[in-house]
Amino acid sequence: MTDLHPRKMDFGFEDSDVPFNWNPDNPAWSSMSNAVSFLAIGFEKMIVKLIMQAKPRITDPEVAAEAVAFMRQEGHHSTAHRQHVNALIRRYPGLQNTLDAVIGEFDLLTERTSIEYRLAYTADLEATFTPVFKLMLDNEATLFRPGDDRVASLFLWHFVEEVEHRSSALIIYNSIVGNEMYRMRMAASIFAHVMKSIRIACQGFNQHVPLSERKVDSMSMFARHRAKQRVLTAFAPYLTKGPMPRAFDGLPIREQLTALSGAVRSQLPGHNPEHENLPVLADRWFTRYDAGYDCTRWYTAEAPEGQGEPVTSGAN
Ligand SMILES: [Fe+2]
Ligand SMILES: [Fe+2]
Repeated sequence: MTDLHPRKMDFGFEDSDVPFNWNPDNPAWSSMSNAVSFLAIGFEKMIVKLIMQAKPRITDPEVAAEAVAFMRQEGHHSTAHRQHVNALIRRYPGLQNTLDAVIGEFDLLTERTSIEYRLAYTADLEATFTPVFKLMLDNEATLFRPGDDRVASLFLWHFVEEVEHRSSALIIYNSIVGNEMYRMRMAASIFAHVMKSIRIACQGFNQHVPLSERKVDSMSMFARHRAKQRVLTAFAPYLTKGPMPRAFDGLPIREQLTALSGAVRSQLPGHNPEHENLPVLADRWFTRYDAGYDCTRWYTAEAPEGQGEPVTSGAN
């Protein structure tokens, strides 16, 4: 099996208020990453159920061990995101409906689709994570560092563990289904479902979080919505939901294109995530975690006893 270690983390989201706009330098990114938190809860809940159902069909003990470690990591992710989202719900109670709706989308998948389809779903979506999260982690200085350290640390942990288990879902898929063309054929419906779930989250943000706090139209990540809003701005500006910057506007175009082509490549038959270019931050994160750093406060934690290096001077 691949080398992966489930780590349970507590970011202390109960201790004090968690702002919706957790990185005030980039409200579009704050909103988009909050939507990722909502999606993660539903998706990872689905994964845990899926692996429980699929496990009896895994005959190779190595793959079975991979599946258990993978499921544990995803379970921990789901729990931590739930704590993050619960903090947002305390502040904006209407978001409970939004969370229920997103989870409902994934519960429906569990109820109505085959194990093969959900294994393909998991393998397809997880395959995009390494190139996409590399873009985010390589730009930590603007996306994470200026933000609330609890929320930033939650995403850093989650994303580096996604890089760590980048091969797991494909290994499990290949062991049970083993049909690369099926995975590719299902991709369109899978990503339509992903986008539908993110859309539900973003619509909920627009509905339940006042513009004065979210600062942007949370739907602005959808190109079709931006086009529609441009028309509204001209003819009925009172119907618009706020400014429409994009989360990655400040990121180098070349890096964005690399992430996009990596995500497309990840869907092709024969894709092997082991060969992916990895973000430097992932290695650094694991080294620090093993050295005893408090990775729930990536940017503000003190160095552990006997470790001279202050976290803040080289946090990436
Ligand atoms: Fe995860
Ligand atoms: Fe994952």
